[in-house]
This record gives sequence, C-alpha cells and structure tokens, in this order.
Amino acid sequence: MYRKIKPAPVTSKPTDALVLLMPAKAEPTAAVPDPLALASLLGQADVTLSPGQTRTLYHTGRSRPGRTLVVGLGEAEKVTADTIRRAAAGALRELFTAKLTSASFMVEGLGESMAGAQLGRAIGDGLALANFGFDSYHGKSKRPTKPDKPINLTVELPADQRAGFKQALKIGEGVTTARTLSATPPNIANPLYIARYCKALAKKTGLKCTVIDARKAKELKMGGLLAVGAAGSTPPCMVVLEWSPGSAKTKPKPLLLVGKGVTFDTGGYSLKGDGGKGMKYDKCGAMNVIGAMHAIANLKLKQRVVGIVGLAENMIDREAYRVDDILTFCNGVTCEVTNTDAEGRLVLADCLAYGTKTYKPAAVIDFATLTGGVVVALGKKIAGVWSTSDELLGKVKDAGQTVGEPVWQLPLNDDYRKMMQAKHADLHNSAPVREAHATQGAAFLSYFVGQDAPKQIPTTPWVHIDIAGTSNTDGDVLMEKGPTGFGVRLATELASTL
Ligand code: BES
Ligand code: MN
Ligand code: ZN
Repeated sequence: MYRKIKPAPVTSKPTDALVLLMPAKAEPTAAVPDPLALASLLGQADVTLSPGQTRTLYHTGRSRPGRTLVVGLGEAEKVTADTIRRAAAGALRELFTAKLTSASFMVEGLGESMAGAQLGRAIGDGLALANFGFDSYHGKSKRPTKPDKPINLTVELPADQRAGFKQALKIGEGVTTARTLSATPPNIANPLYIARYCKALAKKTGLKCTVIDARKAKELKMGGLLAVGAAGSTPPCMVVLEWSPGSAKTKPKPLLLVGKGVTFDTGGYSLKGDGGKGMKYDKCGAMNVIGAMHAIANLKLKQRVVGIVGLAENMIDREAYRVDDILTFCNGVTCEVTNTDAEGRLVLADCLAYGTKTYKPAAVIDFATLTGGVVVALGKKIAGVWSTSDELLGKVKDAGQTVGEPVWQLPLNDDYRKMMQAKHADLHNSAPVREAHATQGAAFLSYFVGQDAPKQIPTTPWVHIDIAGTSNTDGDVLMEKGPTGFGVRLATELASTL
C-alpha cells in the first residue's frame, strides 16, 4: 500500500518521528527540539553516517518526538539536491518499515548552501519517487486476504520549505502517472487503452485531448504510424494533449513534447532474438510525455505546451509491414524499410511532422526509447541528446541537472543525415552499417522537424532525447526496479523556465 503524503506546518503536536538529515560531523542547532539531549545521544552513538545511511535514536525524556531518525548526508561541501532526494527516500523507506504515519523533517548543518525552496523540493522529490510502487497486478498469491487500509503520512516541514515540497508532490503525480502506465503490461496497455486513459486524464486535469484514430491518420497520410501499428492488437493512433492557459495569449507559440509509444516491440519481421523481453518499456517516451502534461496541468504553468504521443504495437501477422516496403509520411517524405525493428523513428516521424506543421512550436523535445546504441554509449543513468539549437540544448541540460535527470550530447550533422538517404526512396530507416547507430536515429528524425526539415537540418529548435537506457532502473533507494519516468521532471522544469 502506498501512502498519501500530506504536507503540514510544524506545530507543537508531536509526530511519530523527527527525521534529521545531517552531514557528517554536524552538531544539532537550537532549531532541533531538545538539541542538547540529541547531541549527547549522537555523541554516545558516534554517528558519522555516510550519505543515505540511517540510524534511529530513541529519546526517553519529555522531548518531542521520542524517536529521531538520523539520515547521513556525507561531507557537507559535497551535498547536492540529489543527496537530499536520496536521503529523504531512505527515510521514507524506514518510516514505512516502522509503520509510522507522521514525521517532522529537518535539515541540519548545511548553512545557507541550499535555499529552503530547493530543500523542500528535493525532499518532496525523494518522497514522491520512493513512494511509488506498482502492485495492481498482484493477485491471490501476493495479496493479503484483508487489504491494508491506505495509510497517510503527514510530513511537517519548516515554512520556507513547504512551497517547494508541495510543488514536488504535484510534479510527482505526473511521474507516478508515467511510471504506472509504463509498468502496465502490453496485453492491457495497448494503443486504445492509452488513448482512453489520456481522455480521462484530460478531463480530470483541464487538458484538451484529441485522438487521431487510424481512420483519421489514413486521411492525414501518416504512413509511418500506420505501418508500425498495422498488426497490433488494437489499431495505432496519435494522441494530442494541450495545455493552453489564458495567460499564454502573449506567448502563443507552444513548447511541443513528442513521445514514442510502442506498446510492445517484437521487432516485427526483423524479429528480436529474445521475443522482446522488457519491450513493454518501449512506450516510456510517450508515457513520460503524458506524465509531463499531467504535471504541467497540476502546476497550472503559464507556458503553452502541446504533448503528442504516437501509439502503436509492433507485431507480426498478415497485415504487418515488411522489410522492403516503401512508406510515405504525412510531410511527403518517403522511406524504404530496411529493418522493421527500427520502428520508433517511423512513428515519431509522423508525430514530429504533424506536430510542427499544426502547432508551429517555439521548441520541440522528443523522448524515445529509440536505440540500443545509446545504452552502449552512456549506460542507464544518462540519456543521449541531439540538438539543432545550442540555446535550447543549454536549457535542457540545465533542467536535467536541476531535477537529477542528466543528459549528454552526441553530434548531428549533414554527414549523418546523408547516411540515412536511400536509392529507391528519400530515406531508409536503418543504414546498411551499424556505425553511429544511435545517431542514425536522430539523423532520421531530423527530416521531420518543421517544414524545412526534408531539405536541410531543421531551423526549428529541437532536442531529441534517447531514453532507451534511462527509462527503467534495476532499482535503488530512490526508485524501485521498473520504469523511472525519466523526462517528466525535466520537461516540466523546462516548461516552467522557458
Ligand atoms: N526499442 C528498441 C530500442 C531499445 C533497445 C530500447 C534496448 C531499450 C532497450 C528499438 O526499437 C530498436 O529495436 N532499435 C534497434 C534499431 C536498429 C534495428 C537500427 C536497435 O537499437 O538495435
Ligand atoms: Mn525496435
Ligand atoms: Zn522500439
């Protein structure tokens, strides 16, 4: 059972525990209830905790509260927002284990190095991310006969941290949406299910939702989306979510977020050797865009934002697309299919072409689990990025740094674009060589970002983010094993700073 986290002001009413986030060798200040008693306890226990290490100390006196959970932050000079996130996450797991329902969080010994807003936000991030769990499909065997009642956790925080904390929890709801959808198995979360989910989400949050179903996609000549989804258990579709606040009238050009939503990737006739184990996560780019739109609506941002997701299931049957097929996308560019497993770029091509033509965005960011190549290059903690604008890229890097979703740039130029040109069509979706294979994906997409894209490197500011490595984790203190929602917080941060 996962808890509803409720922020609360510090009052004189006792909580179940005082959670003290403290760097090594820090002394509790007068802000801590009963600092002398605590100092003596800390002294007796010889607490020099490394980052994230926790230790529970018990007061016996009249002090409030009777239990202090000390969480180490390591060396004070090295503490970052990420240290705080992980410390808060560790604390939450301890509070869960001890079945406590209220706690008072305090950060000690950092001086002025981090503002209250930043601390509150990092604590909120840590709690929201660690609070996630996915047990909707636990059945008779795993479920207790009597379901646990959901337990609330009341979190007391100093006044200067509460706004940042609340903001983090609102964004956290979007991250949870993304992670829940991403974890949902492919026999449930097919394109139709996700489109319906988006409609319901839009109703709840004040977003506008338009579904371009397969019939409409045919009219719009979206040959990429239709080919990839042709053999799927439900037809492919595109979903557009719009956040258009009244305050955006002066800045009408939106930020456009685009996501790859391949609900399952078998590879198609270029079949994956292992049948596609883990390829339910091939929809994470799209789910993270949906999560970001949820967060953006929750925050009621001033910026206009449009989110477009391409949803298709890459399967095999008589209707499935083949290698050697030539497809035409909605911007008139054609492509010879050289590999049905390079399907994400075909779906995204129609999303990018349609989105840039329809919404004339000021900036475009796409999220996709596009290539195994990016995992080889950068691993599972840093996403690969390619861009047409140093200015936009700078903002994306900064946003990623702020929220703890780091990105690393790889190059894109005309040589790479040329690699994607074919003889019998404008493009092929995979070059005959595997060289620069993650960049081939980016180069292919560059033919679809704006009206000038088919002829030259796009002038529209665009960042492609390959999240094949970062979309899911093997699990640590911050996030359990499974989807991470990587990009939800980055995109939301970007939208609030544009
Ligand atoms: N969805 C995969 C990429 C992927 C691989 C995501 C591993 C997560 C983990 C994508 O559709 C794919 O199959 N890419 C191919 C492209 C190749 C055929 C040009 C790849 O990366 O090998
Ligand atoms: Mn594939
Ligand atoms: Zn794929």
